[in-house]
Amino acid sequence: MNTQSQNDRIIIFDTTLRDGEQSPGATLNVDEKLTIARQLARLGVDVIEAGFPYSSPGDFEAVQKIAQTVGMPDGPVICGLARATRPDIQVAAEALKPAAHSRIHTFIATSDIHLEYKLKKTRQEVLAIAEEMVAYAKSLVSNVEFSPEDAGRSDPEYLYAVLERAISAGATTINIPDTVGYTTPSEFGALIRGIKENVPNIDQAIISVHGHNDLGLAVANFLEAVKNGARQLECTINGIGERAGNAALEELVMALHVRRQYFNPFFGRPVDSEQPLTNIDTRQLYKTSRLVSNLTGMLVQPNKAIVGANAFAHESGIHQDGVLKNKLTYEIMDAQLIGLTDNQIVLGKLSGRNAFRSRLKELGFELTEQDINKAFVRFKELADKKKEITDWDLEAIVNDEIQQAPDLFRLELVQVSCGDHACPTATVTLRTPEGQELTDAATGTGPVDAVYKAINRVVNVPNQLIEFSVQSVTAGIDAIGEVTIRLRYNDRIFSGRAANTDIIVASAQAYVNALNRLYLALRSQELQAQTGKGAVLEPAQEASAAVSDG
Ligand code: KIV
Ligand code: ZN
Repeated sequence: MNTQSQNDRIIIFDTTLRDGEQSPGATLNVDEKLTIARQLARLGVDVIEAGFPYSSPGDFEAVQKIAQTVGMPDGPVICGLARATRPDIQVAAEALKPAAHSRIHTFIATSDIHLEYKLKKTRQEVLAIAEEMVAYAKSLVSNVEFSPEDAGRSDPEYLYAVLERAISAGATTINIPDTVGYTTPSEFGALIRGIKENVPNIDQAIISVHGHNDLGLAVANFLEAVKNGARQLECTINGIGERAGNAALEELVMALHVRRQYFNPFFGRPVDSEQPLTNIDTRQLYKTSRLVSNLTGMLVQPNKAIVGANAFAHESGIHQDGVLKNKLTYEIMDAQLIGLTDNQIVLGKLSGRNAFRSRLKELGFELTEQDINKAFVRFKELADKKKEITDWDLEAIVNDEIQQAPDLFRLELVQVSCGDHACPTATVTLRTPEGQELTDAATGTGPVDAVYKAINRVVNVPNQLIEFSVQSVTAGIDAIGEVTIRLRYNDRIFSGRAANTDIIVASAQAYVNALNRLYLALRSQELQAQTGKGAVLEPAQEASAAVSDG
């Protein structure tokens, strides 16, 4: 792709696995990252920012595995983040090696506030570093992206000078981050226009934008940037990311799709051109949103645009009446466009392994035979309790059975007794990482409290439960309940999720999953204390620590 051909449509750069993973508690393990990367490729994103390889061995491994398995010749570009330092850039290049198309994304801050307090460097020094490090990255890969961090609060004249030098050193994409989510749409649009008009060699690079949602303006800022010449959008699924998150991919894509008549002229197209403005397969949006929410434990608010549970629901009688007469009265897009199909009943008690396997394949799950067998056992158990199994049930089973936290502690049994005249009491049996079976019991204010107290007596890692939520996957009394929890340990947040027709069992399993993540982090911390090597922090925290050192 040359710069010219890329300029006539929008390049979607997904940073769910890098900036998105910097959301507190959203830490993903390597397999989960791989699962998300595969789905992003199915969704049709152009670039996957797979991680920050220098930040931790785990991030390095994830980027390398994604490069190996998703970075196919006809697949997306795989990108790795690197501060503007030689070790960062060299390690990123190493991790990206297996990808057919790779990109190094290097950055250094340019706002006076970052220069003075964080970098303690002069403008001239930063200018020289940016040029030298882009040239170094270019000596390792041909596709180099450069970001002047905190561009939104940088002096535009200085920014133009830095960008010009980065482009002449070989940057093929220059990315303009509104790092602190401070700008307004007209300011951000003007910033992009200023760059287009004042950076002499700007035609040799794609203009990209990156923005945080601190004032809820990220998507609006991006759309204004598009009108002024930005052609790459850096975004995340469900808008997850540092603090208030990043611009949401699904909102950007659907705004550009639904309002393409409005945006077409900015791409030099006839107003009524039907040609899509992005390469995204919009029918994969809902599924991708669910997958990211399930694996990160970051719930989607019901009123969230595009993918929220209520996004296509009509509550008021007037609206329902209008929609029944003609959908266009109150709907600007069809739910099917984002893949929200009628929740079909697909399988039942008598369905065999082949039907099960082929439906999972149709749903986009690529599972090993061992994982299919595990999921099939769960499916049969569910079919005994629930007559009709839908696609959403299948997704819940697979997410639950296959993609869970490391199995250090294993829940073997949970039993509760409760009621309005009983003291809620729970008994649990857990298998420890050493293979010992331990049983304990506790009472609590309710059944979940009793279960959590009993589990705590076995696991014995003090923590604070900060979020607990139950959602039903489908309608009906026999629906699967999905439980998502977040707990805090020493200022770090760990999430856990599980699904079961019995919400007490799901609650117990979700808690054990979160504790397993916590336990794993503690173990790697112990290991590093013994060896003096490896990551002390989980990847997300290391990444953000490194970014702020940037
Ligand atoms: O927000 C930011 O500035 C970033 C950069 C690393 C692009 O995430
Ligand atoms: Zn960011």
